[in-house]
Amino acid sequence: MAREEPLLAPRPSSDHSSIRNAEEEDALLTGVRTHRNHRRGWAFWKEIGLFTWALVATVAVIVLSVVYQHESSRTHGHSKDPWGKPTGKRNLIFMVSDGMGPASLSMTRSYKQLTQGLPINDILVLDKHIVGTSRTRSSSSLVTDSAAGATAFSCGHKSYNGAISVLPDHSPCGTVLEAASLAGYKTGLVVTTRITDATPACFASHVNLRQYEDRIAEQEIGEHPLGRVVDLIMGGGRCHFLPNSTDGSCRRDDRDLVEIAKKGGFHYLHDRAGFDSLNGGTEAKLPLLGLFADKDIPFEIDRRSQDDVYPSLEEMARAALTALSQATADSDQGFFLMIEGSRIDHAGHGNDPAAQVNEVLAYDKAFAAVLEFLEQDSTPGVVVSTSDHETGGLSVARQLNPEYPDYKWLPGVLANASHSAEYVNKKLASYSAAETNDSALRNFVRKLLVEDLGIADATDEEVHAVIDPESPYAPKDVFADIISRRAQIGWATHGHSAVDVNIYASSNEHGFPLVGNHENTEIGDFLANYLDLDLKSTTKKLRSSDYWSTSSSSGDKYLSWLGDPLGEDVRTEGLDTYHGEFRKRGLSERGCNCGETH
Ligand SMILES: *[C@@H]1O[C@H](CO)[C@@H](O)[C@H](O)[C@H]1NC(C)=O
Ligand SMILES: *[C@@H]1O[C@H](CO)[C@@H](O)[C@H](O)[C@H]1NC(C)=O
Ligand SMILES: *[C@@H]1O[C@H](CO)[C@@H](O)[C@H](O)[C@H]1NC(C)=O
Ligand SMILES: [Zn+2]
Ligand SMILES: [Zn+2]
Repeated sequence: MAREEPLLAPRPSSDHSSIRNAEEEDALLTGVRTHRNHRRGWAFWKEIGLFTWALVATVAVIVLSVVYQHESSRTHGHSKDPWGKPTGKRNLIFMVSDGMGPASLSMTRSYKQLTQGLPINDILVLDKHIVGTSRTRSSSSLVTDSAAGATAFSCGHKSYNGAISVLPDHSPCGTVLEAASLAGYKTGLVVTTRITDATPACFASHVNLRQYEDRIAEQEIGEHPLGRVVDLIMGGGRCHFLPNSTDGSCRRDDRDLVEIAKKGGFHYLHDRAGFDSLNGGTEAKLPLLGLFADKDIPFEIDRRSQDDVYPSLEEMARAALTALSQATADSDQGFFLMIEGSRIDHAGHGNDPAAQVNEVLAYDKAFAAVLEFLEQDSTPGVVVSTSDHETGGLSVARQLNPEYPDYKWLPGVLANASHSAEYVNKKLASYSAAETNDSALRNFVRKLLVEDLGIADATDEEVHAVIDPESPYAPKDVFADIISRRAQIGWATHGHSAVDVNIYASSNEHGFPLVGNHENTEIGDFLANYLDLDLKSTTKKLRSSDYWSTSSSSGDKYLSWLGDPLGEDVRTEGLDTYHGEFRKRGLSERGCNCGETH
């Protein structure tokens, strides 16, 4: 066969793959594109032929398997719709790993393998259930916050950063949890942060800004246009339920929401003994309000040594599943439960890799517990798990010097830490409140580094950076950086990032509509669809309620219930300050298209 001339300008062939690989590697390092030479001879057309054949075969296999799946789901379960969804009684568990991006999974997987002596192919439970990825932007920014992220899940709509289940026009949108409650399902929220924080808030309340946690608490216990919609609450955030005259309150007013909740029928628990009295959920009576910390439940890396004080996420998840399952045993409807690994996000904000791997492992255990429940329960159900966004711009490698970068990172450094930077920072703060002697302070910092963070080789500069009052970095951030550098873990921000996040489901069959890459609102659509919920009519009910039409003294109907869209005076001291977006007041006039101002 005659050699065909190349279509492009002929160049001398350099078809040595080793050279090509070197060129490509060089391109990766320098960012300069490689130039490839093409000669389209017999080999070229043979490759095209093979490729075409492979493509046709692949498509055929996919088509056949889809047809087969479709057929088998039609023939095997009479009670299933074409997507494999049960049509009778069913349960839905939605899990949110707040701030967990793909890099968190890689980091945690390697950490687990190292610390538990597992082989390379021993992966996380989550890894075995990945079905797709989610795009996370909000209506106001390419980088979402948790409020807009959770509004996409709860309502199936994009909104602005800070929005708690309200749309960009500041009107409330009906949520999956509310619609489920109206349809006769039992509902629950389980978190490790404040139950008034953005993710849980978005399922059971509506306010114009996430900082209105006092209002969120009120709505969660039933001061809500639809009445009480949550049957089970477990997490932290007790401070928003206690009157401002009480120690440990962070409310602005003197309302005692715990008393109000009790009068409304809630069974209130506030400590480990209370949690244990549930006997794993079998003794739970709904509605249940379990607030096990003033603010956040400690990071898992710190909680595990205070197991007698705080329940773990897995324990709370198991108890909630048992309680809800029991409460719906004789019902035609099952339950909807949202479980959040809330503080993966906080470890990301703090750029603390040792805290984060332990948060992710705790979340993985909770996910496994949910899978176990679904396998054993006679009522069919599904668990879907995803993140609202990534936090920290985490990268599982870090270039520490101008020379050629090392291809490694060191999970052993994280394994040597027994506490979080947050915990160590608290210890330092209480020590330095009483001790001003500089050399005593230095010694104390070295002791903390060795005993709690496993760092024996800190330099004088590092120790100085921790205690230097002139330093632009908070001690907590210096501690986290000391660990991150040694582990060769990189962070791009103390905030969120726009990278796509993973979607997991108990099975491909049940999670089928979420296979592939999706907008985060499609996850909300999936949740509503799985339980056949009508979010539109829920929205209508919210908007036609007395709450909505009652005028406050200012005559602005929005203010009476959802809070001032431009911000009002609230207490945020001691809460997670990275979430404070509170400097926007006065940027635009009241009543205008305020959604644009956030
Ligand atoms: C407590 O709340 C009441 C109103 O409910 C308010 O008048 C009072 O100033 C508050 N006290 C503090 C210390 O914030
Ligand atoms: C962890 O700590 C041990 C004991 O102090 C030390 O020998 C080891 O080098 C540390 N590992 C890493 C990766 O820093
Ligand atoms: C400061 O503490 C060191 C020991 O940590 C001690 O030797 C020194 O005397 C102390 N200085 C003062 C002024 O107390
Ligand atoms: Zn978040
Ligand atoms: Zn966050």
